[in-house]
Amino acid sequence: MIEPDGFIIHGAPVNSRESLRLRGRDEPCSTFQGGDMSNITPRTMGQQFGRRSWAEPWKIKMVEPLRMIGRPDRERALAEAGYNTFLLRSDDVYIDLLTDSGTSAMSDRQWAGMLLGDEAYAGSRNFYHLEEAVQTYYGYRYLTPTHQGRGAEHLISRALIKPGMYIPGNMYFTTTRLHQELAGGVFVDVIINEAHDPTNMHPFKGNIDLNKLADLIARVGADKIPYVSLAGTVNMAGGQPVSMANVRAVRELCDRHGIRIFLDATRMIENAFFIQEREEGYAATPIAAILKEFCSYTDGAWMSAKKDNLVNIGGWLAVNDSELFDTLRNMVVIYEGLHTYGGMAGRDMEALAIGIAESVEEDHVRSRVGQVRYLGELLTDWDIPIVQPVGGHAIFLDAKRFYPHIPQDQFPAQRLAAELYLDSGIRAMERGIASAGRDPETGDHRYPALELTRLTIPRRVYTQAHMDVVAESVKAIYDARTQTRGLKMTYEPQYLRFFQARFEPL
Ligand code: F0G
Repeated sequence: MIEPDGFIIHGAPVNSRESLRLRGRDEPCSTFQGGDMSNITPRTMGQQFGRRSWAEPWKIKMVEPLRMIGRPDRERALAEAGYNTFLLRSDDVYIDLLTDSGTSAMSDRQWAGMLLGDEAYAGSRNFYHLEEAVQTYYGYRYLTPTHQGRGAEHLISRALIKPGMYIPGNMYFTTTRLHQELAGGVFVDVIINEAHDPTNMHPFKGNIDLNKLADLIARVGADKIPYVSLAGTVNMAGGQPVSMANVRAVRELCDRHGIRIFLDATRMIENAFFIQEREEGYAATPIAAILKEFCSYTDGAWMSAKKDNLVNIGGWLAVNDSELFDTLRNMVVIYEGLHTYGGMAGRDMEALAIGIAESVEEDHVRSRVGQVRYLGELLTDWDIPIVQPVGGHAIFLDAKRFYPHIPQDQFPAQRLAAELYLDSGIRAMERGIASAGRDPETGDHRYPALELTRLTIPRRVYTQAHMDVVAESVKAIYDARTQTRGLKMTYEPQYLRFFQARFEPL
């Protein structure tokens, strides 16, 4: 897009105070080497509308009251929950930033779609709408619905992984890796090193390191690698994107060795936004087209529709290979339900089909990422340590720099989430040593480089005023940080321990 004053705006403008942070007031950008962004200064950003501000592309027609319980009640609730925010009752929560999963507000059109549910056991018309939506927007041929993302992860892992195989991926995700391990595989992290550094400003920190992937292929052999597990964006790295150039290069490398690529498409639409914003040649390409091109370099995808796709429950698994599809379609009847509903009600498939079309709308994605950025920039202005650049779905507080005096095995990120709840009733989630779990070989804690507390923003739910309240609360616990001590774990479940573990303060 050529501006009247000759600047090329690379991608949809966001009211981005981050841009000030990245570049300094009117310095040209040197961080994003993708292309024309070098011409953009904070002042030119967003000028195509004649002003820098933006607003949500919707208005509110139904509200749900929120209330904040008093401090003594919060103390009691947190102790009863074993200092684990997953074990709190949502009635005791004020602003809920636990997750962006299943927490979106549906549109009036989606709610209208709920009334068009065809609750037939087999061949529901809503299934065919969903199938068409996935084919249209993601471009894959064959689809099976699942009850949510991990249902699809279970099927693809079981269908393709045999004991002793290796699955390279751009950083682990908790449920994804567990299903790969339960199928007998070993997950191997091949993300670029920059992703493990919360201060590194690389614009595509989700990229796969091609050398790491090539080394693994050379070491174990292509026949021991059922597929590359590629996520866009990368949740555990801070919602960081993968570039189009990277997926293309991964495709080339995999083609040389006959290895498939499956995409975790959970937040791929947010990834497409970052490509439009940062990558050479995509500034004028619609998000929907970027999404489809990216998917075209992969052999299929699993999806937690509870995120990007704007529904409260649901998932899907889509592939291009008809033989593999036959296997999956047969497996889904064992674990999820018949292949035309896979654990979903007809009405939920209808809301999902409509949600897919809404989720690629430019204004929607811009305001979604813009809101996350807004919160990030408030915190950055106060020098509060967060993962940079700010990603698509959440702000990740860097607990190692927040509480440098708390050793990692005393759960600093878990403690940070607990302190935030105590201060203001805001609920966040640990993404550090508790989430990483134990090494199945040695039984020791895994010690991830990133020890983070995630403030996850639901889609279309909270306002900018809520973001201000969140930022002030984070500031309050940051100011009191030197007095804060760690936690000890008093109960540890065997699988995905972070969901149900209990802690006590030290
Ligand atoms: N993949 C990614 C990248 C995810 O973030 C999630 C869920 C899944 C797969 C699994 O999908 O929950 O529908 O079974 N992430 C949620 C979160 C739980 O809070 O980040 P699911």
